[in-house]
This record gives sequence, C-alpha cells and structure tokens, in this order.
Amino acid sequence: EIQELTPLKDTLDVPVGVAIDSRETTGVASELLLRHFDQITGENYMKPEAWYDANGQFRPNPEAVALMDFAEANDLAVYGHVLVWHSQTPAFFFQAADGSPLTTSEGDKQILRDRLREHIFNVAEWLATEYGEFGGTNPLNAWDVVNEVVSDGSEYDDGLRRSEWYRILGEEFIDLSFQYADEAFNDVYAADGTDRPVTLFINDYNTEQSGKQGRYLALVERLLARGVPIDGVGHQFHVSLAMPVSALEQAIRTFADLPVTQVVTELDVTTGTPVSEALLIEQGYYYRDAFRVFRENIDELYSVTVWGLTDGRSWRSANGAPLLFDDAYQGKPAYFGAVDEELPA
Ligand code: G3I
Repeated sequence: EIQELTPLKDTLDVPVGVAIDSRETTGVASELLLRHFDQITGENYMKPEAWYDANGQFRPNPEAVALMDFAEANDLAVYGHVLVWHSQTPAFFFQAADGSPLTTSEGDKQILRDRLREHIFNVAEWLATEYGEFGGTNPLNAWDVVNEVVSDGSEYDDGLRRSEWYRILGEEFIDLSFQYADEAFNDVYAADGTDRPVTLFINDYNTEQSGKQGRYLALVERLLARGVPIDGVGHQFHVSLAMPVSALEQAIRTFADLPVTQVVTELDVTTGTPVSEALLIEQGYYYRDAFRVFRENIDELYSVTVWGLTDGRSWRSANGAPLLFDDAYQGKPAYFGAVDEELPA
C-alpha cells in the first residue's frame, strides 16, 4: 500500500521525472511512481547498446518498447537517455569490417559519421512510427544527445574526454550528434519542425564542481558560437551530504545567462554509511534546500529527475540511501523535504 502523500509532481512547475526499469512499471512501485512523477527516463533501456541485437543489427529494444507503452498508457512524458555516450556503446561502432580499430583517415571518419547518423535516425524513425510524431502524440520530448563528454581532469586544452568518439572524430562528434538529432527529431519525424518539439540536451556529472563546470561552460559556449542546435544543459547532480546545496544553485546560475534551458537529470544524495536516523533527517533538509533552489530557479529548468524510485534500486545504494522513498515504498524525510513539508528537528 502506498501512503496518501502530497504528489511531488504537484509541488513543482516543471515535470518531475524518475529513472526506472521494468520493475517500476507494475505493482506497488508503479502506483508510487504514478502518484509522484509525471516523467520517466529509462535507466538503461535507451542507451546506444540497447538498440542492437547480438549480430549488431538495429531493432526496437523490447524494454524500450515496454517503457514507451507504459508512458503512453499512463500519460507520462519520456526523457530520452542517451543517444551518444562513450560507455554502453557497441564496440563495432568504432571498428572496421575486419574488426580493426577505425583510424583517423577521412574514410574511417566518414564511416563513423554515417554510423552516428544512422543510429540517431533509426531511433527517431522507430519512435515516430510507433508512437506518433514528435510535438504531436509522441510521449518523448527530450534527449540527452551527448552524455559525459567533458574530461574529469584539466589536462587537455579543450577539456574534452578522450573517448573513442573523440579519438576518431575529435570535437566534431559533438556538433554532429546535435545536428543529426535536430534533423531527425525536430525536422524529419516531427509534427512541426519549426518549434523544436524535442529539446536537445548535453548532460554531465560533477557540474557543481568548479573545474568540471568551467570546462562544461567553455564547451557549451563554443557549441553555441558555432550555431550547433543545442537547446539545454543537463546537471546530473549525483551528490552527497558533503556537497553544499549552494554549489547546485551556483551551477544553475553559471549557465543562466546563456540562451539555453537547463535540466536536473539524475539527482541522488548519498548519506554515507552506516545510515542512521540522524543522517536520514539531515538528508531530508538537504532535499528540502535543493528543491527550494529548483523552485527559485524554476524558469531555468526544463524538468527535475531523481535517479531511481526506491533506495534499494539505486546504483549508489551502497553509499547510503540516496533517494526519496524506502524499500517499503514509504516516504523518507528526503521526500518530506522535497515537498517542503514538516521535518523532525
Ligand atoms: O542487465 C545485466 C544483467 O543481465 C547482468 O547479470 C548484470 C551483472 O552485472 O548486469 C546487468 O546490467 C547492469 C545494468 O546496469 C542493469 O542493471 C550493468 O552491469 C550495470 O553496469 C548497469 O549500470 C548502470 C550504469 O549506468 C552503467 O554505466 C546503472 O544501472 C545506471 O544507473 C547508470 O546510470 C548512469 C547514467 O546512465 C549516466 N550518468 C551516471 C549514471 C550512474 O552511473
């Protein structure tokens, strides 16, 4: 049984999302999800590798199909995650027909550009064919186009991660990812290509930390200066109680003057271990302050997503109870903080 709590989605003026897999689409978990959230992200189902069978053939991922069907049946928006990433991507993307690594020759670069374009268009075409045009009936209305392309350290002048994408194409792969996504989602398969019905985001972690934030900002400014069709900047916000909430606000303010929207894509807050009642209450105040920051900056935000429904389902559960609800589907102090209701002293 779920509790009769204030729906979190009623307390924010933008969609409130949650990352899920099939376990959240049935039973009590789905009831809890539908009470509090109006947007979903596939935690793993729309990543590059998810779309290919064992022979490397593109096909609609059955798990993505089920996710889209669940969204359609329950009137949820879908936030797409992710078109281009260095991780969870089939190795063949970066290989020649004989299995050898693609080189930086013009011919090999073109092979990778073609694969990138085909991947994005295959995803868009399937979604449009099955769920209707974007900006029309289709529940999907945003994508993380590129994920985690910024380097963790300051060793490179351009501040970019040295991935296979980067090794072969250089920074160009980022421009191309947005250009192909814009063409596919906002032009070819959209109900009305003039009003950008699918919002295109860049996404990264540690954007609340100054070094990464500076590299992220510099990249976004370069993309905008080149006229790359990027609509928004994503903050994952995988944080712990040690990270001041003011850093989250500062991250949002840093991009506020740019002609982009922003989004919180993967929020979770670890308490550290062992988890205690006192830490859970401290976490409640943390979520309260974080959601206050989101409300105060709501004009900047496209949506706010938490990276999982219940603590046990979090990729960071070993670091201490990061989410809003416990494994018995009960609201934690974190939930009461997020909706800004009374917390224990
Ligand atoms: O499905 C297989 C299962 O068949 C197998 O037995 C099992 C053994 O390890 O692995 C299962 O796959 C796991 C998958 O999650 C589904 O549970 C993968 O190993 C595991 O690596 C994968 O982890 C995901 C991780 O991304 C991969 O990088 C997490 O669930 C997911 O929360 C996490 O999400 C990322 C975002 O995409 C990007 N930002 C950071 C965030 C957290 O790492």
